[in-house]
Amino acid sequence: MSKPEKIVAVKGMNDILPQDAPMWELFENTAETILKSYGYQKIVTPIVEDTSLFARAIGAVTDIVEKEMYSFEDSMNGDKLTLRPEGTAGAVRAVIEHNLVYEGPKRLWYKGPMFRHERPQRGRYRQFFQIGAEAVGFSGPDIDAELIMLCRRLWDDLGLQNVRLELNSIGNADERLRHRADLIAYLEQHEDILDAEAKRRLHSNPLRILDTKNPAMQEMVNAAPKLLDYLGEESQAHLDGLKKILDRNAVQYTVNPRLVRGLDYYNRTVFEWVTDALGSQGTICAGGRYDPLIEQFGGKPTPAVGFAMGIERIIELMKGLGETQAPSQCDVYMVHQGEAAQAQAFIMAERLRDAGLDVVLHCATPAGSGSFKSQMKKADGSGAAFAVIIGEDEMANDQAAVKAMRGDAGEQQQANVPFDGLVDYVVDQIIGGGEHDCDDENCNEHGHHRH
Ligand code: HAM
Repeated sequence: MSKPEKIVAVKGMNDILPQDAPMWELFENTAETILKSYGYQKIVTPIVEDTSLFARAIGAVTDIVEKEMYSFEDSMNGDKLTLRPEGTAGAVRAVIEHNLVYEGPKRLWYKGPMFRHERPQRGRYRQFFQIGAEAVGFSGPDIDAELIMLCRRLWDDLGLQNVRLELNSIGNADERLRHRADLIAYLEQHEDILDAEAKRRLHSNPLRILDTKNPAMQEMVNAAPKLLDYLGEESQAHLDGLKKILDRNAVQYTVNPRLVRGLDYYNRTVFEWVTDALGSQGTICAGGRYDPLIEQFGGKPTPAVGFAMGIERIIELMKGLGETQAPSQCDVYMVHQGEAAQAQAFIMAERLRDAGLDVVLHCATPAGSGSFKSQMKKADGSGAAFAVIIGEDEMANDQAAVKAMRGDAGEQQQANVPFDGLVDYVVDQIIGGGEHDCDDENCNEHGHHRH
């Protein structure tokens, strides 16, 4: 018989394995705590939406819509659907559909997988995770500043360094139109320098040409008419207002007149948080205003601004901090031998869990598996603070042996504890500083669930 063919994950789509999961959890918990502390409320929208939602929101002449969307026809009914490439379009659809801003502006956040058929490389995947925020119904630069400062707080809390903020204003539609006419005229004068992609975009999306990485075009795009010079009074005041708040709060930034973003819905403020530590995919968070979008979708005119961060990129930065201590799987590992001891261990494990402890019970199938020695090795590997051991001797004496697993060998004391006092004893040991010495009653380091 031939060997069955190996099944592997879809290219560019990753598994998050248990060894990385605690870091994801740490990131998500930190981000969610901060979002909550700024008054953002969670929204969950479907992963699949009508293709036309994305085409209209993101723009027909963008990389995402032109070549990166996972679109398909629902074979049951012919609906044209797409796996969401980003979260803003779905959030905006939900805001309009449920009239969420009826009572006033809303601060929203979401997280989840996004899908883009890009060429996979470090930091760029076909399924990737974002956490995003959208502040809907706010028109002033104070909210732009709030979102930016929320990000700064997150980088600080995570201990990320060398993340810098780039800022720009791309004005409103009229301002862009005036700039566009001048830009096209300028680019046409330099047509001999334009590469194929730039030529293709010359009349459809000339702003994106300014974004080019082609070294041969740098000098030419550097001297191109700058959108910043075309801002009208209101757009200029918005940008100045934002800069003032950032300055007042000691947020460092550089204004990058060439920052244009790859999605069409933006106006005025756009920004990116960038690091040099990740190679070419160094943008860990990006966003901006999209004031006209909700009206374009048939809603009442409602200004809005938001951002999304790429979680894989941030996790990679966190890994670079070198604090990847093996996470402990549990507080207690239960070791047992013999049928009666196994039955008793089952009961005691449940009681310890009732008291709020995380308990891993050694699995004794197939029958008789695991000598004491190999079970103790597993207990050690689990990162448990204590091993609770029940063998024939213990059963005969109605007690368990409790062994401290942390600290030097000398400190790893063992005590015999009657079954009926076992839960209190272990809880006492853990709260009482068996794990670390600290006088602060409010300290959380002892564990997560002490009653
Ligand atoms: P975006 O710039 O397309 O914006 O994506 C935001 C972030 O998602 C990027 O800065 C990056 O960290 C991450 N990201 C994007 N593509 C990939 C990929 N292929 N692999 C890994 N990470 C990736 C948006 O998605 C907008 N919806 C942001 C927004 C919200 N604007 C206003 N509100």
